[in-house]
This record gives sequence, structure tokens and C-alpha cells, in this order.
Amino acid sequence: MQTLPKVLTFPPSSTEGDWWNDQIICGDSKAILQAMPDKCVHLAITSPPYNVGLEYDGHHDRMPYDEYLKWLMPFWKELKRVLVPGGRFALNIAPTSIKDFKPVHYDMTRDLKKLGFIMRTEILWYKQTMRRRTAWGSFRRPSNPHIIPSWEYVLVFSKGSWDLPGDKADADITSEEFIKFSDGFWHIKPETAGRQPFLKSLYPPRRGRKAPEQKEEGHPAPFPEELIYRLIKFYSYKNNVVLDPFGGTGTVATVAARTNRHYVHLDLSQKYCTISAERVAAELKQMRLDEIPVSQPECTPAPAIVAETKTKYATRKKAKRK
Ligand SMILES: C[S@@+](CC[C@H](N)C(=O)[O-])C[C@H]1O[C@@H](n2cnc3c(N)ncnc32)[C@H](O)[C@@H]1O
Repeated sequence: MQTLPKVLTFPPSSTEGDWWNDQIICGDSKAILQAMPDKCVHLAITSPPYNVGLEYDGHHDRMPYDEYLKWLMPFWKELKRVLVPGGRFALNIAPTSIKDFKPVHYDMTRDLKKLGFIMRTEILWYKQTMRRRTAWGSFRRPSNPHIIPSWEYVLVFSKGSWDLPGDKADADITSEEFIKFSDGFWHIKPETAGRQPFLKSLYPPRRGRKAPEQKEEGHPAPFPEELIYRLIKFYSYKNNVVLDPFGGTGTVATVAARTNRHYVHLDLSQKYCTISAERVAAELKQMRLDEIPVSQPECTPAPAIVAETKTKYATRKKAKRK
């Protein structure tokens, strides 16, 4: 029987079996990652909160820059632990503001290399989102003109080794796709017309009006499915486990399910997790039963850590109630 995803609130009530696999889990992904077993994920894809003041449901998106980088480190450390040897991490990051420009792709690369990740490559996602631009700086004068980045980065890392072991029969990318995707300049239309996180933060919608680019599901920065499709097909095998620790409205989980991979979706927001569960369920309903991955990843759950985390949560809850 095909089971459709529901939102699992962390910590889970049962730690039996692979509680994390093929799940939409609502909670702080640092704690959830800590509870997950070692070496159980083949590909992680994420874009962390941009730290440009976007209006996420439940996350404060403006920390001092150094604090932001420091805040992310424990997530990256746990993420590395849960990857299998040779597992991949594709990190999508957008250039920051114009006046307060920070080389965030460079600083995150430095931090990830410090943790021992091997850097494989940098993909340029070209979005050409300049149609509605107004931030020219000094227009037609060299005194102070502005460059607006019309791209985002996808930085790709490996854990321990360049090679990801797998069965040749599970490699499902076509020759045409392989040739196309191996050119690292990816021209993909953004999911929302004006997806340029820092621009949105500079020009918030006028009061009472919905931003024209905001999709019905109401997430400020969803991935386009094509971007995730390419990463999944290029970097993983069928039946692999694909994780997004900042999963938002579930693009990674949805495309992973569609491409016969297992998914692990984590997000702080109950609202985004509910949307994600609905998207994945809709995807699975369309698939034939024999297309849905059944094989389980080989890794041992870490019940001791789960139990420990549960106690920590219970104590925190009690303290809050007092
Ligand atoms: C840039 S968005 C990801 C959007 C996603 N790529 C998509 O396609 O919808 C970052 C997400 O991180 C989530 N988030 C922020 N802090 C978190 C935390 N501590 N644990 C889990 N999720 C968190 C936010 O709720 C937000 O949805």
C-alpha cells in the first residue's frame, strides 16, 4: 500500500525503524539532523534562509552577517555526518545586497571546506530577472552605478570522496540530459517572476497588496522544480535518499518523489510542512505503484540520540510552562 506523507512533528513519538525517511518533519532542523543516523543521505540540496529580512513563517531573517554564518555551522556539521561517503551537498545561495555587498558564496565555501567538504564545482543559475528593475544607482553616469546580480550560485561539495558508489542500473539520466546539465551555466526561469531575495527585501510590497511575484502558497523563495530536477538527476541514483534541511514548501521532496528517490524534508514552519506534504502526496498519487522506491537505505538509526533529544525537549517545554 502506498502511504501518503503527513507532517511529522519533531521529536517523533516513535523512534522505531527509519522515522526520518520519506518524511516531512516539522521542527528545528539542527535538532532533527542531530537525531538522524550517520551516513544515511546520498544528496542534500538546500537554500538556507537568506538573511536579508524576508518574511518567512516563524524565522527571523536578519542577523548580523558573521552571526548568520556562525549560526549555520552546526547545521553543516550535522549534514556532513548524515551524508554517506561520497555523498553530495548542493548549496544554493544568492548574492546579497547592493550597498552592503557580502561575498556570501565565498564565505560559505570557506566554512564548508573548513569542515572537510571537498568542493566539486560552482553552477551559475542564470535567472535574467531584471525586467522590473529600478535600482540602477547613478543611471548613465559612472559616479556610482550598480551591478544587479541576475544569477544565483549552486555550490556543490562531496563528503570524503569524489565518487558516489551505486548500481549502474540505477543511473537514470539520459545522454541528452547529461550533456546539457554538465554545462555549468544553467538558464532556468525562477519560480516566481521577481525571485531576487535581496531585491524583495529592499522593495517590500506596499501595505495591503500582495507582491505580484508571490505564489499562492505564500513562500517568499521557492526553488524552481527544473533546478532541483537537474541536481537530482546529475548527482544521485534512483532509490537514493535526498534531504533538504531548510525545505520550505517542499520542492526538493516533491521532485525527489517524482524521480524515484527517497526524500527527507525538514522545516521549522508547520504551514510550509503542510503545503509540502500536500505536494508530495499529489505527486505520489500520480505515480504507478512500481515507480515508488521501496528499498530502504542501509544505515542504523540512532535511538539513543533521539531519546536524549526528546528528554531535552520535554525539559525545555516544562521550563517554559513554569
Ligand atoms: C530559503 S527558504 C527555502 C525554500 C525552499 N528551497 C523551497 O523551495 O520552498 C529557507 C527555509 O528555512 C526554514 N528555516 C529557517 N530556520 C530553520 C530551522 N532552524 N530549522 C528548519 N527550517 C528552518 C524557513 O522556514 C524557510 O522555509
